Amino acid sequence: MTNTIVNSWNEWDPLRHVIVGRADDCHIPPAEPALDAKVPEDSDMRGQWGKRPQDTIDRANELLDTFARQLEARGIRVDRPTSIDHSKPATTPDFHTDSQFGCMPPRDVLLTVGSEILEATMSYRCRWFEYLNYRPLLQKYWEEDPNFRHEAAPKPRLTDADYHPDYLNEKIGDAQRLKWAEEKHFVTTEEEPLFDAADVLRFGRDLVVQHGFTTNLKGIEWLRRHFPDHRVHTVNFPGDPYPIHIDATFTPLRPGLILNNPQRRLPADQRAMYEKNGWEIVDAAQPAHNAPPPLCYSSTWLSMNVLVLDPKTVCVEASEHYQMEQMDKLGMNVIPVDLRDAYAFGGGLHCCTADVYREGTCEDYFP
Ligand code: ARG
Repeated sequence: MTNTIVNSWNEWDPLRHVIVGRADDCHIPPAEPALDAKVPEDSDMRGQWGKRPQDTIDRANELLDTFARQLEARGIRVDRPTSIDHSKPATTPDFHTDSQFGCMPPRDVLLTVGSEILEATMSYRCRWFEYLNYRPLLQKYWEEDPNFRHEAAPKPRLTDADYHPDYLNEKIGDAQRLKWAEEKHFVTTEEEPLFDAADVLRFGRDLVVQHGFTTNLKGIEWLRRHFPDHRVHTVNFPGDPYPIHIDATFTPLRPGLILNNPQRRLPADQRAMYEKNGWEIVDAAQPAHNAPPPLCYSSTWLSMNVLVLDPKTVCVEASEHYQMEQMDKLGMNVIPVDLRDAYAFGGGLHCCTADVYREGTCEDYFP
């Protein structure tokens, strides 16, 4: 009998083991090209950087710890990262930035596909070393599980050649951003492969990857070559002026059912594979809030950033009553989880976790 620690092929099979991030030592990083393009133009975060206020860190940790205990109470094993010192600069021969980001959210960095956990290239300089927060865990899995494949994508150089200078403008405006998104003109260039793990959704044999600010076409091509037994699909959501990370946009709940952000609908010409196989794509409910909490990178659509525990059970943020109600109507059992005060640390319930083990095998849902 081998001791299988790592196994996860999709976003919905019964969850048995997961990593939950920590807010410890999270920083608002200094300006840099890819990050600036992403910080909303009206955000309270523009122009400031440094360690996040300690009371917000403590509060976020309290919520993340409670979430971890809720999962453990359901028999799910929970591991936590070991924070590195994010106040330290990140310097390589190619770039320098004065601080790093944090060990939230793990979903951005770690991509679990079957018995493999792949460290993403990342596309922000301040997140270049973020994998180090997870190395103690990955090392342990590697010692314990003889089939675990610990992989790391080629670290990018992240010179200025990786970023389109026209995005480095503080006042672009949503109309221009939406036009660029429509034209698939994003802040990252095609200088070298770039991807964040949170741009990828796993549907068994199929991987669905968002092309946007944090993942370029070469990054998607790299994933295609790296996973030769998978079909890799590129998707775009032209309604999103800040297209980063797919999990507040497109959320599979179980085989045959996906929630889609109604402001960022999947274009008709990209729907064929779902339609042919009888999958339903439904508009997500409206968020309960009109604005994100203070110092938050994400939009109010973290409402649909849910963690599926099994095809009938889903964790939804406790203040998102419209989303909870919709889940209930869709036949899901809803577990409310208080997390809104941790949103500023990089996201919701899907973001702040990374799969280690879900039951099940690699299935073909789109034959
Ligand atoms: N881009 C998304 C939004 O603001 C946020 C996605 C966060 N996801 C994550 N894995 N960090 O709507």
